[in-house]
Amino acid sequence: MGWIPGALCPPVPTFVESIQLPITPLFSEPSAGRKLMSDLQYINISWDGELAIVTIDRPEKLNALNGEVIAELGDAFDSLRHDDKVLGVILTGAGQKAFVAGADIGELAKMDALSGVQVSRVGQGVFRSIERFPKPVLAAVGGFALGGGCELALACHLRLAAENARFGLPEVGLGIMPGYGGTIRLARLIGLGRAVELTLTGEMMDADRAYAVGLVSGVVPREELLDQAKALLRKITKNGPVAVRMALECIYRAVDVPLSEALAAEASIFGLLASTEDMKEGMTAFLEKRKPDFKGR
Ligand code: COA
Repeated sequence: MGWIPGALCPPVPTFVESIQLPITPLFSEPSAGRKLMSDLQYINISWDGELAIVTIDRPEKLNALNGEVIAELGDAFDSLRHDDKVLGVILTGAGQKAFVAGADIGELAKMDALSGVQVSRVGQGVFRSIERFPKPVLAAVGGFALGGGCELALACHLRLAAENARFGLPEVGLGIMPGYGGTIRLARLIGLGRAVELTLTGEMMDADRAYAVGLVSGVVPREELLDQAKALLRKITKNGPVAVRMALECIYRAVDVPLSEALAAEASIFGLLASTEDMKEGMTAFLEKRKPDFKGR
């Protein structure tokens, strides 16, 4: 049944109305149940200038995502979301063998129908918050990115692979299927045919094939992965921060709305950017043949 005029139904915000401009809270307190960053057991956050490096740190289980890892990942991105210092995030896994070898099979084995839905919805929520993170998030993938690990990389805006990276969705071999957005995001990224093949065979794809099908932006030696990830992200963070943020917003919102609405929103945001100091600085710098000094305003 459609919406009846006059009925008690909140109006659906348009694309433009739903875009949230940067809001800097005076301070950010953990919400109920959220951990302070210093209390995280499985997630490390380090910094390189304006880049935050988020490392999933459970190498003895190939960084498999148990409930706690998923919750801490959500907490980490929640806290970074409110941090004005961050211009980009690298997400990676500890150890040499894996980015993330999937959801924790020991936990999944205990699921029933109801808790299965819950497991999927919680993971989807955290991965969606990464996909809608307002600054670029790059997955630096060394070793296995399987199941939930592959889905996590798919939820990031960019992916860079080490030569030893292996991508795959082996869930069907366990009698389940991807439940953290993998049945949707893989096809959107690499096309239906290849996504169907990867999902139904459960076989792994090596780094070169991942590059060939457009799953990753590049393949680099394992020992250079982090440095090359930083270099790739810095090609983005040297640009106007508001422009980068708004471009991300337009690209990801456009996936969910009709073309006419997406185009209208693009035009409005294009106009909005024309009012920023960053636009004046970017264009003046070009005309004066110097590098721009963006302020993010
Ligand atoms: N969940 C829980 N534990 C996992 C895991 C997962 N998804 N992936 C790896 N581990 C654990 C192993 O059980 C092992 O723990 P143990 O030492 O306590 O026995 C440890 O991590 C190392 O893994 P191991 O299998 O010994 O390494 P390997 O090099 O022989 O094989 C993989 C690596 C990735 C091929 C293999 O671990 C694997 O197939 N993992 C499951 C991948 C998967 O199906 N993911 C989707 C889940 S929905």
